[in-house]
Amino acid sequence: MTMKLFSSAALGMAGLALLAASAAADSVTQKPFGTKDGKAVTLYTLTNSHGAQVSILNYGGIVQSLRVPDKNGKLGDVVLGFDSLARYEKDSPYFGALIGRYGNRIAGGKFTLDGKEYKLFVNNGPNSLHGGKVGFDKKVWDSKPIKTKNGVGLDLRYVSKDGEEGYPGTLSVHVIYTWTDNDALKIVYTAVTDKDTVFNPTNHSYFNLAGAGSGTVLDTRLMINASKYTPVDKSQIPTQAGTPGAGTPFDFRRSTAIGARIDATNAQLATGKGYDHNFVINGSGLRLAARAYSPRSGRVLTMYTNEPGVQLYTGNFLDGRMKGKGGKVYAHRGAFALEAQHFPDSPNHPSFPTTELKPGQVYHQTTEYKFSVRR
Ligand code: GLA
Repeated sequence: MTMKLFSSAALGMAGLALLAASAAADSVTQKPFGTKDGKAVTLYTLTNSHGAQVSILNYGGIVQSLRVPDKNGKLGDVVLGFDSLARYEKDSPYFGALIGRYGNRIAGGKFTLDGKEYKLFVNNGPNSLHGGKVGFDKKVWDSKPIKTKNGVGLDLRYVSKDGEEGYPGTLSVHVIYTWTDNDALKIVYTAVTDKDTVFNPTNHSYFNLAGAGSGTVLDTRLMINASKYTPVDKSQIPTQAGTPGAGTPFDFRRSTAIGARIDATNAQLATGKGYDHNFVINGSGLRLAARAYSPRSGRVLTMYTNEPGVQLYTGNFLDGRMKGKGGKVYAHRGAFALEAQHFPDSPNHPSFPTTELKPGQVYHQTTEYKFSVRR
């Protein structure tokens, strides 16, 4: 009798545990993460049906953590980031953030649109990088959790006033992150403007598929669906719309370890201190852009986008001293970013796919990072 009672009590416990797990499944929880400009900053944790999780801040729309299974089914965090808002404000090289209005560089911090010259904040050598002084990555966005038929999500909105950071037009930006039950983080961007402007948003997540803070990504194997890349000048501004990567360290059409050629004698790699280049993704529409695989963890990241380009950045500016979440050290080249984008400096290159947005048009981008494992 005692035995029976014990076993049914045990069953009850297991039942409760299951219930707790299923309550957390397909949920969005919220946690205060400080305040910025008098606005509450919240960390939203999106949990899908089998417990994989993405945490996103309404500050910068930052993907703060992303916990997905490895080949043994063990969840691990695969994005670099910080445990506090203060660290994001002070130290972050755009970890996980939404970038705007313009992802990557604009030469000389200026461009001409409809015959008028616009001046931007110069924050990267002679150029303007990632939106200027206070880009979208440093703004508190209006946010609300959502539930869709494919999973859970976060709805983010930000209105960038006419003239903000030197850009023309009031730009209303809407970003929806969805975390699906098959471990895909889908990012859909839409935007409208009331004056002619330029717009090129992206997400700047730093991935390490063996786990954030687990050393370099040099052993990560990478495939990029690109026959061409855009070579850059000394200040990392593209010099042309695309040159074939074949026969150079910029050919990733066949999956190759990131570290295999990164230190090859090559003027482009020397300028970027590694890979920091825009790849011209083959084809158009929402399509396969890249696939990364960590042999250590078995994790695979497959990226899809409708953007014409993807910036591969291999954490060359991480100096190996920075400590992030849980005190973990972020190695030099301890992450890679795959930033969906139009080409850098497009407003100054009429031959590049245009980044202009006019009143009456609706900007649209879909980018998806899908996680799986190879055993
Ligand atoms: C982009 C740029 C890099 C660097 C990183 C952030 O990838 O191309 O040069 O600025 O962002 O540090």
